[in-house]
Amino acid sequence: MSAVTCIEDLRVLYKRRVPRMFYDYTESGSWTETTFRDNVEAFTRHKLRQRVMVDMSDRRISSTMLDEPVAMPVALAPVGLSGMQCADGEIKAARAAERFGVPYCLSTLSICSIEDVARDASRPFWFQLYVMRDRGFIERLIARAKAAECSALVLTVDLQILGQRHKDIKNGLSAPPKPTLTNLINIATKPRWAIQMLTTSRRNFGNIVGHIDEAVDLSSLSKWTASQFDPRLSWDDVKWIKDLWGGKLVIKGIIDVEDARMAVQSGADALVVSNHGGRQLDGAPATIDVLGSIVDAVGDEIEVWLDGGIRSGQDVFKALALGARGTLIGRAYIYGLGAMGETGVHRTLEIIANELDLTMAFCGLRNIAQVSADVLWNPT
Ligand code: GLV
Repeated sequence: MSAVTCIEDLRVLYKRRVPRMFYDYTESGSWTETTFRDNVEAFTRHKLRQRVMVDMSDRRISSTMLDEPVAMPVALAPVGLSGMQCADGEIKAARAAERFGVPYCLSTLSICSIEDVARDASRPFWFQLYVMRDRGFIERLIARAKAAECSALVLTVDLQILGQRHKDIKNGLSAPPKPTLTNLINIATKPRWAIQMLTTSRRNFGNIVGHIDEAVDLSSLSKWTASQFDPRLSWDDVKWIKDLWGGKLVIKGIIDVEDARMAVQSGADALVVSNHGGRQLDGAPATIDVLGSIVDAVGDEIEVWLDGGIRSGQDVFKALALGARGTLIGRAYIYGLGAMGETGVHRTLEIIANELDLTMAFCGLRNIAQVSADVLWNPT
């Protein structure tokens, strides 16, 4: 493999090294995948103003998210099943984030448990919450996140029902994979993945198995969400969760101005403009296209962040220019994780930081705090 110089290189390597069903799980959107693709393409429609003959020395991309210092305004988004992309994937991603100085958010649907990640971490991480019908389980989950000293709770509000992703159904996605002939043949071509998987005992949903009363079949994500996730989740429940948690709260999954106002009223500290990476409502707008309207409506009252479609530091820069105070990356670091484990996630962060820094300089700025719509060419 020649040098890895961009996120796309990591994706290519990732595709080669990880079983097909987990690559497909990452690289899918729902239904026609229009929103999934548009999240990426929409960034290319925003152009930047190049400035010249400006002092470019002593540049700075460090910032804050939730009042905590970050090496750059980029956090690792919660991604389900990361521990299937590579053995102990969540522990490795958390380590890379910690080493780089950005936040890591653990998913409810992770393979490594909250306790597994906390045991290894020396800095607090965030925990993402899905709300299930079994409220006793949610109370225990929040208590576990508190005991692990997680520094923020990220409540995902756009996945009480699961968007249909054709490939996951066709592949029979499960964790761990079922020993079908197709899977065994495919896994035989991924020896690095298989050998590492055999060295860990973590191959199941660590936050759930052994923590939920009724026996649940976790092998099918779609069936399991349909039976367990609470479709009646409402803003009233957010108050219950906020009181139980008592710490920093982030609402993830807002793409509508009215919902953004509700998120502010809920007393959350930040909201994430997110369409779940185009995995839920196909036909929803690209996140970068709705960011401006949400920032205009509530940007003075709450930290507005963005995820969806970020594949470069330049995309991060454009999100900041359009008013986001922070960003989350999902697929970009999963490519790194599947390609090269902890090193790969670190490489993702290095690539993004470098692109962010150079883009800022080309636009004539030296401090990320100065980024505004002024850096956009022909802003509308
Ligand atoms: C779960 O969060 C998913 O998008 O698969």
